[in-house]
Amino acid sequence: MVRRCCFLPLVVLACNLTICTSWAFSISSILSKELFHSIFLHKDDAACPAKDFFTYESFVQASRCFPSFGNTGNLATRKREIAAFLAQISHETTGGWATAPDGPYAWGLCFKEEVSPQSDYCDSTNTRWPCSPGKSYKGRGPIQLSWNYNYGPAGRALGFDGLHNPEIVSNNSVISWKTALWFWMTEQKPKPSCHNVIIGRYLPTKQDVAANRTVGFGLLTNIINGGLECGIPTDARVYDRIGYFQRYANIFSVDTGPNLDCQYQKPF
Ligand SMILES: *[C@@H]1O[C@H](CO)[C@@H](O)[C@H](O)[C@H]1NC(C)=O
Ligand SMILES: *[C@@H]1O[C@H](CO)[C@@H](O)[C@H](O)[C@H]1NC(C)=O
Repeated sequence: MVRRCCFLPLVVLACNLTICTSWAFSISSILSKELFHSIFLHKDDAACPAKDFFTYESFVQASRCFPSFGNTGNLATRKREIAAFLAQISHETTGGWATAPDGPYAWGLCFKEEVSPQSDYCDSTNTRWPCSPGKSYKGRGPIQLSWNYNYGPAGRALGFDGLHNPEIVSNNSVISWKTALWFWMTEQKPKPSCHNVIIGRYLPTKQDVAANRTVGFGLLTNIINGGLECGIPTDARVYDRIGYFQRYANIFSVDTGPNLDCQYQKPF
């Protein structure tokens, strides 16, 4: 398709500006508001603590900071990336259960912060991103960002003080969405970015090959929470992620691709 463009091809990539602008592409061309609401059937139920927080508009606004998200490769690849992202964040924030109304996979984005955190998720050995006394780096936002070593760099990249003000991730909807997209798009060695895996730009190292870390949705799970969920048989959390992905891939009319689970993969 020929794109008629009347402006300078100005793409402001700096996410720490209040307004991110991508003239070229909007996620709304693939994910309409109607589609979004047919995916997240219960996110604004009174029973969901995140009620009214994760709006479509704030997702679209946040995505403008990441112009290659859902915008790389052919249409199937773009849809698959969006479906995979929405599936992973749905598991992270799920309010679903086996016999829930509309099924267990209709309850993504129900929670915006971790309910009974086991700790403050402070890695005190990390001196680059030192914890601020009394602050909790528990899971918050669509991807349930956690640990000081994630809050620090996410805040640096997105323009907030992640170490002193981690609460903003569950108080500001656009920032909250941006942290999930930042995690998805950003390579944190030795892990590849979720984005590069799902669009097929991931080149496994020798160690990856030896660890069975082959391309597929299961590798995304490994990147996000492999230390707890991968390399063990029939983990219920892994199957919850897969169930969400299968439902969403079906809604987007796109195939899921191979290697959905990570039970034979070693964590990073
Ligand atoms: C901000 O977050 C804190 C801690 O989670 C919460 O107690 C407070 O109500 C939030 N404020 C707003 C405006 O959402
Ligand atoms: C790789 O996967 C195979 C099964 O497909 C398994 O037998 C093997 O133990 C796995 N290797 C590692 C390092 O997990």
